[in-house]
Amino acid sequence: MRKSNDPPHHPRASKRRQTVRIARISDTFVGEISGVDLSQAIAEMDFAAISDAFLDHSILLFRDQTLSKRELIDFSSHFGELLIHVLSQYLASDVPQVMRLSNTDEKGIHADFRNGAEAWHSDLSFMAVPSLATILYGEAIPDIGGDTLFCDCYAAYGALSEDMKDRLAGMAAVHSFRRYQRRRFPERPLTEEQKRSTPDVAHPVVRTHPVSGRKSLFIGADVISHVVGIEKRKGKKIMDDLLEHATQERFVYRHRWRKGDLIAYDNRCTLHRATEFDNDKYERTLLRTSIKGDVPF
Ligand code: SIN
Repeated sequence: MRKSNDPPHHPRASKRRQTVRIARISDTFVGEISGVDLSQAIAEMDFAAISDAFLDHSILLFRDQTLSKRELIDFSSHFGELLIHVLSQYLASDVPQVMRLSNTDEKGIHADFRNGAEAWHSDLSFMAVPSLATILYGEAIPDIGGDTLFCDCYAAYGALSEDMKDRLAGMAAVHSFRRYQRRRFPERPLTEEQKRSTPDVAHPVVRTHPVSGRKSLFIGADVISHVVGIEKRKGKKIMDDLLEHATQERFVYRHRWRKGDLIAYDNRCTLHRATEFDNDKYERTLLRTSIKGDVPF
């Protein structure tokens, strides 16, 4: 992952306040914010309310937005420094901070693939410094399918037995982008440069959120090559069982996209995955920005 060579972009702050309203829309997490037009410069106090809500709900949904890529960058920059994804072939040609998750190219021509990932993951968990948050903006949405599922990893951790929590304390797992890409997208091999910039990395299986101090599970499907210090098959079984536990319906929110939805999710305490849609019939384009995080502990 390289950072932008551009000078840092500072989000526009406005004195004009909007009316930030927040409603919980899933049992344990996910807040919907209304009363905010994200194409406008956001007043500092309003972002403070959004930021608190982000901490409380882990995922925020804003409906009915109309954003240019620049406005998406402006809003995203309130959360922190933007990253430029290592898969440079999917970056918007005019603004590399924006990644296009789409089955069309920028001219709207159908491309025979989706680059939404359908395995549970936390974005950029394969980096030594993974992503704090991701912002997704729905530009083109299929009539049917293409939902995104989100899992509340705080709640999943909290529901484990005390024995299991003790067993996981201090356990680390190796996250491997090469493995993930090989398994999920064998037809799209990484370049040598992409491989060089994404060496495998070990992270704690139980992660402490640096702001809330709460513990959650930091795991994923296909991205974990092994558990450190545990025989491969045994480690795989622990990871498979944990993922099955964490992604039970009671911990999952299904987002049915509408055009103009914007979702911000905290990668430090949630997992997510894309779901299928008819790739020949519908266009699906999400614009994505990634915020730089910190080293998991
Ligand atoms: C992602 O994994 O970043 C996007 C998920 C989706 O395409 O629904």
